[in-house]
Amino acid sequence: MSAAASYETRLAALDAPLPAEPALGDLLRVATLAASGHNTQPWRFRPRAGGVDILPDLSRRTPVVDPDDHHLWASLGCAAQTLVLAARSRGIAADAGFAADADGERLAVDLAAGVGAPADEADLAAAISRRRSTRALYDGRPIPPALVARMIREAARHGVELLYLSETQAVEDVLAVVLAGNTAQIRDRAFVAELKSWLRWNERHALATGDGLFAGASGNPSSPTWLGPILFDLVFREGRENDKVASQIRSSSGLVVLVAGTDDPAGWAAAGRAYTAAALAATAAGATLAFVNQCVEVPAQRAALRALLGLGDRRPNLVLRIGYGPPMPRSPRRALGEVMMLG
Ligand SMILES: Cc1cc2nc3c(=O)[nH]c(=O)nc-3n(C[C@H](O)[C@H](O)[C@H](O)COP(=O)(O)O)c2cc1C
Repeated sequence: MSAAASYETRLAALDAPLPAEPALGDLLRVATLAASGHNTQPWRFRPRAGGVDILPDLSRRTPVVDPDDHHLWASLGCAAQTLVLAARSRGIAADAGFAADADGERLAVDLAAGVGAPADEADLAAAISRRRSTRALYDGRPIPPALVARMIREAARHGVELLYLSETQAVEDVLAVVLAGNTAQIRDRAFVAELKSWLRWNERHALATGDGLFAGASGNPSSPTWLGPILFDLVFREGRENDKVASQIRSSSGLVVLVAGTDDPAGWAAAGRAYTAAALAATAAGATLAFVNQCVEVPAQRAALRALLGLGDRRPNLVLRIGYGPPMPRSPRRALGEVMMLG
């Protein structure tokens, strides 16, 4: 079996359908399909009576790109929402909330026998294994207004406002902020060093760690693990990267901005839950998304975006482009045994 075939085959095992009466391990296997910043998967699942706590794995912080752990908590929100939707699809009453006490900060997911998914939610769980961050050129087609309305509704369930920008000037204005953020990051040696430490140069490398940013998932060729960092230094250039981001955004139907109700870990996790619900609604409708968070990761650009969008003192949490893109290789995941705490 070729490396590529065994890579996709091994990851496809994560997509096995949930049994009608899933064990906690079945549900957590699905939860690991959630998105996370740099694919760090910064979660630890701790089973407890009546549910499971999702704890931050602080050894997986990315302090340069995410100094206040905003993305870390958003990622935990992604895992929580994926778990909630998977459980509800099998008739388990599930919900998640931020908890902070002597036991630390965490997301508490309650799982109890009861009513399952509301009828209008069933397609979200079915889309979990098909959701991807699709970092490719899209085909320029607009997404339908009904999908925009649905994403707004899904985000609102978590107290998160979803803005959709598709008018050319509005998109170009945000693109300028994205490019300014991209430029600042590429010029920042600490950012580039941190990014490189999460890059996975080939299938074998990605499978060995089970995490990080697999070259193929960003449309880049694989290279031997020793050669990858050398080639990266040669090709990772401001002009080329900015051109790529600009073409990708201009090929999209529009941009999505998520704005949570509060600027704290609870709000950041809510932004992750809102992303997950909206992204699954988009996936169910055949659309694709990719994050363009450069404009919220660099503080000066985040302030510029906030002013541009008239958000007052509210923080723009996550920014995505949406449209219709081609299938892309998937990103690796760590085994359940590495993220599930026992006893
Ligand atoms: C909070 C957060 C921030 C992210 N920021 C970016 C980003 O700026 N650029 C990007 O290409 N992907 C970004 N991602 C996507 C992750 O890299 C992606 O979820 C991960 O590699 C797993 O791949 P998947 O989404 O296809 O499952 C982000 C994801 C999360 C949850």
